[in-house]
Amino acid sequence: MLEDIKLHNFKSHSASHLKFDGSRLNALVGPNSAGKTSVLQATYFLSRLGNSQFDEVFAYESSPDFFAAVGQNNLSVIGSGFWGRGQNRKNWEVSYTFQYNDKINKWEPEASWKMGNNGNQHRGWFETLENAPHPIPTALKHSVHLKLVATNLAQAAYSSKTTPRVEFDGSGLAPTLDYLRDEVPDNFELLQEQLKRIVPGVKKVGLRRATVTVNRSRLIEVDGRSISYEESQKVTGQEVVLDMNTGQRIPAHCVSEGTILALGLLTVLLHPKQPNLLLLDDVEQGLHPKAQRALISVFKEIIEENSTLQIIFSTHSPYIVDELKPSQIHVLNNRESGFTHTKRLDEHPDIEWAKQTLTTGEFWDAEGEDWVLDGEIDG
Ligand SMILES: Nc1ncnc2c1ncn2[C@@H]1O[C@H](COP(=O)(O)OP(=O)(O)OP(=O)(O)O)[C@@H](O)[C@H]1O
Ligand SMILES: [Mg+2]
Repeated sequence: MLEDIKLHNFKSHSASHLKFDGSRLNALVGPNSAGKTSVLQATYFLSRLGNSQFDEVFAYESSPDFFAAVGQNNLSVIGSGFWGRGQNRKNWEVSYTFQYNDKINKWEPEASWKMGNNGNQHRGWFETLENAPHPIPTALKHSVHLKLVATNLAQAAYSSKTTPRVEFDGSGLAPTLDYLRDEVPDNFELLQEQLKRIVPGVKKVGLRRATVTVNRSRLIEVDGRSISYEESQKVTGQEVVLDMNTGQRIPAHCVSEGTILALGLLTVLLHPKQPNLLLLDDVEQGLHPKAQRALISVFKEIIEENSTLQIIFSTHSPYIVDELKPSQIHVLNNRESGFTHTKRLDEHPDIEWAKQTLTTGEFWDAEGEDWVLDGEIDG
């Protein structure tokens, strides 16, 4: 479990420190642009180093050029946590750092790990935390960061993988559900039950065959030279269809947005290769207040049954916040200058009074985020 994360010069975070309570279900709230998604990104990068090299994790739009705070020549993200319980508990700390080298005009990465009195640093783009001692790679590597998009979830899809998965943006839902239905039918049953709780109009989840266009790259030899080109091919994939109270076998692109988003989330959570750390952006999107509450109670049940699962999500919804305790809520805010400050809702000076008088959502709604900035200095 991740207990603690520190961000230094990561986008708008000049020095943010989030200490998660032991609930394994934590929310990030705050105005638009406060830095919530950035916390999820920084954490996800750290976890990816558990099975990938720097050059794979920090390529293209994930390059430090974009997420190092403008004008700064270094950044770091440090996470700490534990794995195992009781006598088997092992505490760990891992970090990644980027330093800009003016002489060669390049960012230089370094990953480090610590466990008890042992530790090590690994410098360079081909380094990874994969070779750190157990349990560090295991604790880190099964993380998922999702920003599900209903149109992607609804799309017919084909997968050639033995174990298909829902991707970051929601693509690949249909083959993943097909896999779940065939290989893990108990989870598929449970998924249907839980979806019905969130969206009562759902009666049954099904799949049907659909034609899908896939792009494949091909190599051909011309005059002794290899030339690569993209070829699009029609293959048979799957499409999600739902039996609803309004009719049967309704294709996914015709069902409501909230229904398909909830289905996507449950598919990730009930996948047999469930993540240890699930990072979710804007968790309530498309869901009615009642459905939002139902979603959080489903999350709580799944967490209860899976002792290594932790969920960290961003939200703008007081209904979701209402289902959690103040210690589970991290409030983020920034001033005109843009630097993020963050405090846990249970650090609010009036928390004891509020606990007896208001629900968590009412308290957040009444107090907003300005109190987070009291006594804080930017930069
Ligand atoms: N390289 C950078 N240096 C400094 N600040 C940056 C950099 N890149 C992005 N930012 C800032 O970081 C913040 C990113 O916000 P983020 O996406 O984490 O917000 P959010 O809380 O998720 O907002 P929303 O609720 O709108 O999704 C913005 O304030 C943006 O201006
Ligand atoms: Mg965001």
